[in-house]
Amino acid sequence: MPEKENERLIKRMAVYGGDILRSPSFRGTRRNIQHGSVSVYEHSISVACCSLEIMDGLKGLGIRFRERELVRGALLHDYFLYDWHTYRRPKGLKNLHGFRHPETALRNAGRDYRLTFCEREIIRKHMWPLTVVPPMCREAWVVTAADKYCSLLETLRLRKGRWRKAGHIRDRRRS
Ligand SMILES: [Fe+2]
Ligand SMILES: [Fe+2]
Repeated sequence: MPEKENERLIKRMAVYGGDILRSPSFRGTRRNIQHGSVSVYEHSISVACCSLEIMDGLKGLGIRFRERELVRGALLHDYFLYDWHTYRRPKGLKNLHGFRHPETALRNAGRDYRLTFCEREIIRKHMWPLTVVPPMCREAWVVTAADKYCSLLETLRLRKGRWRKAGHIRDRRRS
């Protein structure tokens, strides 16, 4: 993707989710690895940017979206705030990270932000079909697809650092 397009998406994301991007809790997700060598922070930003790209494509077909909610839900979809590689959970299939982390992320996000129905759906259902019940808004479908796409590329190590420049948004604003 051209650098300018990349920058444009990141700026758009910062308009809707600047408070999240600047928060110490969200910044703390830089310390936790998500896939390969990609942090949860980088992964969440990748998913938000990818969601915007998918949304823009679908908008061209005349489909409407709540852009703010899509961005905020995408940024918070993995807001579980622990290192899932070392975190100890009770044994059992239902307690596996893949099944449990959406509810943990939702609980944390609800504690730190005022969430809309759509944002809650994005966070709670982003692991569909593991969640069984499908997403109830189109923004959640977009983030679910973006999450799977980004996760695959990160796992295959094809996407490391693509959105790292997002860090400079916060740094610039603080200086
Ligand atoms: Fe997730
Ligand atoms: Fe994710």
